[in-house]
Amino acid sequence: MTAAANKLNTMEAVDVGIKVRRMDFDFKDDIPDFWYDHDALLTMFLTALSATFPEGEKQFIQSVRNFQDQISDPELKKQIRAFIGQEAHHSKEHDALNDLMKRKGFPVLRIEKRMTKMAQWMRDNWSRERQLANTVCAEHITAIMADFFMTKAPEELEKLAPELRKIWAWHVIEETEHKAVAFDVYQQVVDDQWLRRSQMLLLTVLFVAETAVSTTQLLRATDQMGNWKMWLKGARYFLGRKGMVRKLLPEYLDFYKKDFHPWEHQRFAELNAIKSKYLEAGER
Ligand SMILES: [Fe+2]
Ligand SMILES: [Fe+2]
Repeated sequence: MTAAANKLNTMEAVDVGIKVRRMDFDFKDDIPDFWYDHDALLTMFLTALSATFPEGEKQFIQSVRNFQDQISDPELKKQIRAFIGQEAHHSKEHDALNDLMKRKGFPVLRIEKRMTKMAQWMRDNWSRERQLANTVCAEHITAIMADFFMTKAPEELEKLAPELRKIWAWHVIEETEHKAVAFDVYQQVVDDQWLRRSQMLLLTVLFVAETAVSTTQLLRATDQMGNWKMWLKGARYFLGRKGMVRKLLPEYLDFYKKDFHPWEHQRFAELNAIKSKYLEAGER
């Protein structure tokens, strides 16, 4: 894996070990409604993300598949297959989590329908190059958020109800493993840095707005909207001195550098640590 470090910024794909793991989560109804730190806002934030994954990940897969034939590097071809396998499994398992939240009465379906419309609009109105650039940007946002739970604030995973820890840890692991695949495809077939960077600005606005709207819609279905302690804690979680935004900002901004590559944020030791903690020996 250290070879990866030496080969950054080359046009060759780096073998980082992308493993497709088949999970089969079964989320029982007795899981508490607020399964993230007994907190409605944090739970609905992750539920909002989960609700966007099946449609979003389908779109990521499609945007990479559009260019699959133009890739000749055998290592990158192998990684594309693994990327598709991982994302397809994420959708399946997040569907199971989304079903749990639907059974509990939260309006997850409304978010899913909005995502389906947005994805269709993007396919109809954006070039294939822009759709791939959008995936590259979304994968960077996903990777730095995964890094929040893996490296910057690993204690957060322990605040989830025990039944929910593994799905999120597994998703964090796989988003980290495949974080450079769409990027490497983009570099090889599109290689337009202006498009990549301008799309990141656009996606950031869309992502923050969509996540805020979805989280609020979900929260409205709880009895917690007037809980000011929850809002204060949420403000600290996102915007505080040790909050998510401050912790992720430097790596978010790295994306705008001309010579950026996702593996300049090396996480091999951290990946091994989180795998040992949350995965069975055969799954690592
Ligand atoms: Fe994913
Ligand atoms: Fe991903």
